[in-house]
Parts: sequence; structure tokens; C-alpha cells
Amino acid sequence: MRRILRSGFGAAVVLWAAAVSVLSGPASAEEMAAADAAARRIIAAHCALCHPPLPDGTGWVQMTVVPRDRAGWASELRRMGTDYDAPLSMDERMTLLDYLSRAFGPGADG
Ligand code: HEC
Repeated sequence: MRRILRSGFGAAVVLWAAAVSVLSGPASAEEMAAADAAARRIIAAHCALCHPPLPDGTGWVQMTVVPRDRAGWASELRRMGTDYDAPLSMDERMTLLDYLSRAFGPGADG
């Protein structure tokens, strides 16, 4: 009986941890760094042909001059897809939106 109780509690803890990690998004600094690296790879593959990286590493030519919120970045991604043939998968789009609105959003200084 005690064993059943304990394993029930263990399962509850696992569920709780999973719920917390889903609700709070990327949990650790490593996960954040991995998400940023993935976003930069997508930019290298789909955007850097026309928006090369700035020499000081703070952004990409023309692309990151104006800070935009998530909706602003979403509309730019759509526009680049239709006007400049830079289409993105749903996953790539979400990864870029997370990164761009965080690193180049209205409150960001880079
Ligand atoms: C084939 C070339 C090409 C590709 C590929 C491309 N762009 Fe652009 N982009 C342009 C040009 C040209 C402009 C400037 C004219 C305009 O805004 O339409 C521009 C403008 C922009 C702007 C607006 C800059 C401003 O004035 O504030 C953003 C943001 C942007 N691009 C993001 C992206 C992103 C993100 C990608 C990759 C998903 C991408 N672009 C891919 C050619 C491209």
C-alpha cells in the first residue's frame, strides 16, 4: 500500500514538472541557447543570402534595424515568404518568431 502511494506521488511530481516546463517555456539557459542557435541556422539558410550577418555579430543587414514585436515579426516573415521567396515551415517560423521577438523586440537593446 505504501509503495502504491509513493509511486502515485512520484507520478504526480513528474506530471507537475512536465506541466511547469510546458507553461514556462524553455526552462534552462542551455535550452535557450539551443533555441537561439537553431534560429540562427534558419536565418543563415533562408535569410542571409539577402541579409548577411553584421560584422560585429549584433544582427543581420537591414533585417534587424527596426525592433518589432511578435506580430510585427510575423508579418515580416509572411512578407519575405511571399515577396522574396523565403518560405518557412511552421516549425521554422515558430523558432524564428520566438528568437526575433525576444532578441529584436521593442524592449531588447540588440
Ligand atoms: C531574396 C532576398 C531576400 C530574402 C531571402 C529575405 N529578404 Fe528580407 N528583405 C529583402 C529586401 C530587398 C528588403 C527591403 C525591401 C522591403 O522591405 O521589402 C527586405 C526587408 C526585410 C525586413 C524589413 C527591414 C526594415 O526595413 O525594417 C525584414 C524584417 C526582413 N527583410 C526579414 C527577413 C527574414 C527574417 C528573412 C528570412 C526568413 C528574409 N528577410 C529573407 C530581401 C530578402
